Amino acid sequence: MGTTLVTGGLVISASDEVTADVLVDGERVVALLAPGSGLVDSADTVIDASGKYVIPGGVDAHTHMEMPFGGTYASDTFETGTRAAAWGGTTTIIDFAIQSVGHSLREGLDAWHAKADGNCAIDYGFHMIISDVDEQSMKEMDVLVGEGVTSFKMFMAYPGVFYSDDGKILRAMQQGAANGALTMMHAENGIAIDVLVQQALAAGRTDPRYHGDVRHALLEAEATHRAIQLARVAGSPLYVVHVSAQEAVAEIAGARDSGLPVFAETCPQYLFLSTDDLARPDFEGAKYVCSTPLRPKENQAALWRGLRTDDLSVVSTDHCPFCFKGQKEMGRGDFSKIPNGMPGVENRMDLLHQAVVDGHISRRRWVELASTAPARMFGLHPRKGTVAPGADADIVVYDPGAEQVLSAQTHHMNVDYSAYEGRTITGRVDTVLSRGEVILSGGEYTGRPGRGNYLSRSTCDYLG
Ligand code: URP
Ligand code: ZN
Ligand code: ZN
Repeated sequence: MGTTLVTGGLVISASDEVTADVLVDGERVVALLAPGSGLVDSADTVIDASGKYVIPGGVDAHTHMEMPFGGTYASDTFETGTRAAAWGGTTTIIDFAIQSVGHSLREGLDAWHAKADGNCAIDYGFHMIISDVDEQSMKEMDVLVGEGVTSFKMFMAYPGVFYSDDGKILRAMQQGAANGALTMMHAENGIAIDVLVQQALAAGRTDPRYHGDVRHALLEAEATHRAIQLARVAGSPLYVVHVSAQEAVAEIAGARDSGLPVFAETCPQYLFLSTDDLARPDFEGAKYVCSTPLRPKENQAALWRGLRTDDLSVVSTDHCPFCFKGQKEMGRGDFSKIPNGMPGVENRMDLLHQAVVDGHISRRRWVELASTAPARMFGLHPRKGTVAPGADADIVVYDPGAEQVLSAQTHHMNVDYSAYEGRTITGRVDTVLSRGEVILSGGEYTGRPGRGNYLSRSTCDYLG
């Protein structure tokens, strides 16, 4: 592979910005050099990054490739989804392997390896969804942590599918507290939501907009509060996924203010979209059905504030695409049958750069939220999430002045709509290196399925 020199760009990390040449040897970064270091003639490959940003490749810690949901499957495979991620400047994903009820964690993990191994364009790791807490799966948790699956998600939502009751959650949290794992929580009160779903349908409220009403913000806040208390009792750290309601942010902020090891993420859809999108006519709102649901616009100020204060530490996508035709349409006449999830793995870095342009966050916070913090949170740092000597050369050259219009006509995700159709973004990915290899340059994709490696992860870097 030889050496690569990325010259003259503004190298941005979570803490610093410096104009430097980045020297890559093989798969790793070996040095940051003063510009004009004289290595231009000796490097095998030179990438001119003048006028551009040089940032660590994005780490998307929440994706669902090929996820079975609502009688269908998320439409991106590991091949198409990781290629789309690369187009959008993301060089690592952490996807969710699923234990189904009556099966072991191992069976779930093996099934996800079978889908992903040999197909990914970029490096990938797995969290494990626990759907069946029993003594056997608790023992398996310990084994998996030893093998680099160091985070486990449970659901307070979706009764009869992925749902765990409070006793099961407490038990798994105890196990995680003992083996060093991070418990991730889908915090919505699914039992109460199901009552509201039945009442809405019985009253003829079947349109997608009612998905947002029945998944009430207070039922997200209540579940978030309960998850925090259960984690306290278990002595466990907690990471709350896809936070959307300002009342839930308040619960997380309160917990963090009292010194608890509670962390949380939000997603671009909650920052840039709202219940106005869920209420689009002609069943278009189905494109915006995900859980937790999109909220009224007023919630966005609290989310941006949380991102600035670090009450929200990570922005992930929860990429779980379903085509409008044939998949979202399964819920015509009954919003509860619309498969839950939205596409976004390709758009996250750009949307967050737009947030820099719009003044919501700084450039360094952009890098931290999209790359460094998820790498640290999920035991991948300093291999991922930084452009520093010794790190994997997962590097994005980003053109901050380029303009693009997001559209399903031009995106690379395997889904027939864009949630951001027609939106103009300032900034665009120019070049992507994955472990030293150029996989995207000047609008040409040169990656391939199977070059992505499986990542065995350490435990969370934020826990003492
Ligand atoms: O709507 C969503 N979020 N679908 C994916 C599954 C989940 O809850 O994360
Ligand atoms: Zn979830
Ligand atoms: Zn998810």
